[in-house]
Amino acid sequence: MEFVEGTIEEEKKFGGLVFPKTLNPPKNDGDQGVEYGSSELIEMVKAKREWLEELLQRHSAILFRGFRVDSAEEFGRVVEGFGWEEMEYWGVASRFKVAHRVHTTNESPPDKFITFHHEMSLIKDCPSKLFFFCSQPPPIGGETSIVPSSIVVEKMEEKLPEFVADLMEKGCVFGRSLPKGNDTNIISGRSWKWFLQTEDQDEAKQRATERLRSCSINFNKDGSADLVFGPLNPIQELEGKRVWFNTILGYTSNEKDMKVSFGDGSALPSEAFETFKQILNENCVDLKWQKGDVLLLDNFTVQHARRPGKPPRTVLVSVCK
Ligand code: FE2
Repeated sequence: MEFVEGTIEEEKKFGGLVFPKTLNPPKNDGDQGVEYGSSELIEMVKAKREWLEELLQRHSAILFRGFRVDSAEEFGRVVEGFGWEEMEYWGVASRFKVAHRVHTTNESPPDKFITFHHEMSLIKDCPSKLFFFCSQPPPIGGETSIVPSSIVVEKMEEKLPEFVADLMEKGCVFGRSLPKGNDTNIISGRSWKWFLQTEDQDEAKQRATERLRSCSINFNKDGSADLVFGPLNPIQELEGKRVWFNTILGYTSNEKDMKVSFGDGSALPSEAFETFKQILNENCVDLKWQKGDVLLLDNFTVQHARRPGKPPRTVLVSVCK
């Protein structure tokens, strides 16, 4: 059984390489079509591991389309087939574990836009690979949008070279606010107590230092907490590519989470935000989900986002070390 290289309407090309690379099941002979389900996909993945790793390195994103992957459990087994080390999700998004290695993506209402980001990019130990699986495509909108992060650096340097040089020199400070209690209505809906797994403020500070990238915490009277990350250089070299690892647009649309400044506290120029947004939108692929789709991303080189859409939408996630 061999994968068949496919195409999707939304794909783009960067440096001559298609993004994402689409792989379909083998073609059926005649009308006695064999159906390719998760067990066939797992078998093919296992037989082609090295080839798939090379393909991922080249294209940064692979879409497996046309395989009948039906459930969270089957998706978890497909992820296992790749042989990468398991990693528990740890972050501020409201997610629930639904099967071995599988979580819901974000419980916040689907009409909210989740901005482009690398998964868990403010956490020291962040995943190198990310899988998404769609079991219920949304009727309208709700695309998962992906963009090669090196293109963002390249285009920003083309358009605003001085700003990029400044940013690399001074770094950036990112603010995030976590609510008093878990709130599935907001994108970063986990309370600091849940996130840092303690009720004790000193212990919370210690955990933040240990596990988060250059983070300090201020506790507010209303029970919420403000996390401040940085200064961090948002542009990093990962897997031989210069990527825009931490977004200057803030991680959610919550007002406090939009607080991003230069490392010295000075404000970023407003044209930087506009240009950054424009580059993301011009270079991204808005993936229109089909039932059973499995999308594999190199989390170090690809940013992802969620477009607003209408329910029902079920997209699940799995992260690997
Ligand atoms: Fe994400």
